[in-house]
Amino acid sequence: MKRNNYILLILGLSFFGCYYDKVEVLYPGSTHCTEITTSFFSVNVLPLLNSRCNSCHGGSSPSGGIALDTYDNVLTYVNKGSLMGSINFQSGYSPMPKNSGKMSACEIRKIQSWIDAGALNN
Ligand code: HEC
Repeated sequence: MKRNNYILLILGLSFFGCYYDKVEVLYPGSTHCTEITTSFFSVNVLPLLNSRCNSCHGGSSPSGGIALDTYDNVLTYVNKGSLMGSINFQSGYSPMPKNSGKMSACEIRKIQSWIDAGALNN
């Protein structure tokens, strides 16, 4: 299967996981795609960033000088608005993950619900 088709398949499956509220493990180290009421940084957000973003935004020389591997680093981009701007493909921000499809609604919701709850170091 071509890589793009594979990505579409994953996105499709993750959407269904959300819709029917099933427990689906989408990515190793990430959390289940169930109905999220409150997200926690260490449980829901960081594992997601590690699997989807930190191949570029982790390590000793992160892409664009933007590190997303610790709470303090992530909070910087939450406060700037660029984290959600990029993830939501909003104009004025570089769409992220770069050169890849938009994250699933479930994944985006996990991050948004953590921010809505105050973006705590929890
Ligand atoms: C393939 C490498 C790669 C991946 C994967 C990636 N990024 Fe990026 N990201 C970059 C590069 C390079 C830049 C700086 C250049 C640019 O803005 O395009 C950047 C810039 C950014 C910016 C600043 C954008 C702005 O307009 O100010 C944010 C925020 C960001 N990334 C978040 C993320 C998030 C969140 C993810 C995961 C969902 C992610 N990135 C995945 C390479 C990547």
